[in-house]
Amino acid sequence: MFYLQCIGCHEKSSPKEVVYYCKKCGDLLEVKYDFEKLKFKIEKSDWEKRPLSVWRYKEFLPILDESKIVSLNEGGTKLYRCNRLAEKLGLRNLYVKNEGENPTGSFKDRGMTVGVTKALEYGVKTVVCASTGNTSASLAAYAAKAGIRCLVVIPSGKVAYGKLAQAIVYGAEVVQIHGNFDDALNIIIRLSLDCGEVYMLNSVNPYRLEGQKTLAYEVVDQLNGRPPDRVIVPVGNAGNISAIWKGFKEFKELELTNSLPKMMGVQAEGAAPIAKAVKAEKDTIEPVLEPETVATAIRIGAPVNWKKAIRAIKESGGKAETVSDKEILEAQKVLARSEGLFVEPASASSIAGLKKFLEMGEIDKDEVVVCVTTGHGLKDPDTPVKFFVKPVEVEADLDVIKRIVGV
Ligand code: F0G
Repeated sequence: MFYLQCIGCHEKSSPKEVVYYCKKCGDLLEVKYDFEKLKFKIEKSDWEKRPLSVWRYKEFLPILDESKIVSLNEGGTKLYRCNRLAEKLGLRNLYVKNEGENPTGSFKDRGMTVGVTKALEYGVKTVVCASTGNTSASLAAYAAKAGIRCLVVIPSGKVAYGKLAQAIVYGAEVVQIHGNFDDALNIIIRLSLDCGEVYMLNSVNPYRLEGQKTLAYEVVDQLNGRPPDRVIVPVGNAGNISAIWKGFKEFKELELTNSLPKMMGVQAEGAAPIAKAVKAEKDTIEPVLEPETVATAIRIGAPVNWKKAIRAIKESGGKAETVSDKEILEAQKVLARSEGLFVEPASASSIAGLKKFLEMGEIDKDEVVVCVTTGHGLKDPDTPVKFFVKPVEVEADLDVIKRIVGV
């Protein structure tokens, strides 16, 4: 029903053993399905009657043993129609897919429910990841639910406090390294290649991305079967934009839709190897050695999934853009104040990117646009408190308050 295939040389790998990279050429792997069989399975199933969630689409996911599913009720996040923000930006049809509504507050939960289920299917007892914060929080929660050991490696001092607290409280073994995310991921990849007893759940793991592709399925279902014209996604390690594109393509291949959106990637200016490559029409990236941005979730200089992401953007006819920290923080504020949605800085980069694409004339005002906001604002309370206007402090006196209110 499914198998793993190299995105470069197309060599197939058996899903029976744990593999992260193509054994022949070392390139990334992706999960492939026999679509004829899948169509038949889907027609026979009652998936359309199930509530919106990752597991609504279980027939579309690479699971062998349903009894092993580890779930915290992930997915089913709201698609908000944002009229006030749309009007401000000069757009007619704007939606925000708010992934902060997932159980641990980010889109990572879509991937981890599938990834940790695969860990149980493979019979492993330890799961590991490197993280800028959200991956570690999510993996820690799913490992706790599964009752297995979890080790997370993070860049010291560069993970937002809410995320660090989550990983600690869910009981992960948290190791902070003197280095950045790229250094941490390097170590975790080598660890998992050296030691078969640990299972790596970073986004090079193709099963994790299968969970994340369900965001695309949900958007199509929430828009009554019609994909949007554009999907704008914050890009870090570049797994999510690749996964979402895969989801849209699969729905089309299964004849559940008949169009595809253009995928628009947004990176922070100080950590933008993919956006820079796409803009320069290059097929490879130049890693950023010392990535820096206020959006710590996407502070990544050498994204492992760059090939998949560039392919997704190009195949779909999309574009990529960079946004400054100032533009990110402004977008966070405007989204919160016009729509009541508080998202973390990395998430707000999709809104900052939309503004830029509109200014550049890249997006037409009549297009249907979906911005993905990837994580909840409360993950990182320090950043707004540091950069936004501080509240006034006065004596506990009614007259003083009256004067402030102006009554
Ligand atoms: N937005 C948020 C809030 C994230 O946490 C991440 C990635 C991204 C966007 C980018 O997604 O890597 O698939 O391109 N966070 C990872 C982590 C790297 O460790 O939590 P991507």
